[in-house]
Amino acid sequence: MSERPALIQTTANHIQSLLSGEGSGHDWWHIYRVWQNAKNIAKNEQADLFIVELAALLHDIADHKFHGGDDTVGPRVAREWLESLQVEEPAIQHICLIIKEISFKGAGTISAMSSLEGRIVQDADRLDAIGAIGIGRAFAYGGHKGREMYNPEIKPILHDSFEAYKTASAPTINHFYEKLLLLKDRMHTTSAKAMAEKRHQFMEEFLEQFYQEWEGK
Ligand code: ADP
Ligand code: NI
Repeated sequence: MSERPALIQTTANHIQSLLSGEGSGHDWWHIYRVWQNAKNIAKNEQADLFIVELAALLHDIADHKFHGGDDTVGPRVAREWLESLQVEEPAIQHICLIIKEISFKGAGTISAMSSLEGRIVQDADRLDAIGAIGIGRAFAYGGHKGREMYNPEIKPILHDSFEAYKTASAPTINHFYEKLLLLKDRMHTTSAKAMAEKRHQFMEEFLEQFYQEWEGK
């Protein structure tokens, strides 16, 4: 097995070539931001940085939303990649568990992360779903799916199962109530909580302005 920094860089290059130019909000730059967020959060935690960085880089390698809802694809593809680099088995297991546990499964469902490294990567991923970037990504995703931006007649639903959440096709503004505004209270680490507070406030202001403009104000 090569040196750890080299493994991380090789993985970053691989993911960059795999996800460049992806148009649904899951492109390389999302991975890049999650990677930076994760390193930043990890500075204040006693975490295994090798696991944190590789899990951040690989967390969206094969998203269930683009594989007919199959959420076993991500860990499987990540494992193949890590085995090809001859990463040791305990590290592979840990990283694949993080990828399995990480995705948001609906407002009424609990997604427990079983390790500190997983909690850091989940916080880092969630930070990229809120604030200015989160707003941009939500509309990019909605456009990709051909959704309406907003429809005052369709009310948000707090999904209590992953099945209901992943098959929903409501307007993008509903996604704020179904996911984005819930994230700040689900952060695990102290530094992510502080960052989330600021980004949450920005989304509240955005929504207020959006509804005013909707009525010509
Ligand atoms: P993550 O990268 O955090 O795992 P997801 O895979 O759930 O996030 O979604 C990718 C991006 O698309 C996120 O910014 C998310 O908020 C956005 N997104 C997911 N589902 C919807 C939706 N129904 N409407 C608008 N945006 C969505
Ligand atoms: Ni992600």
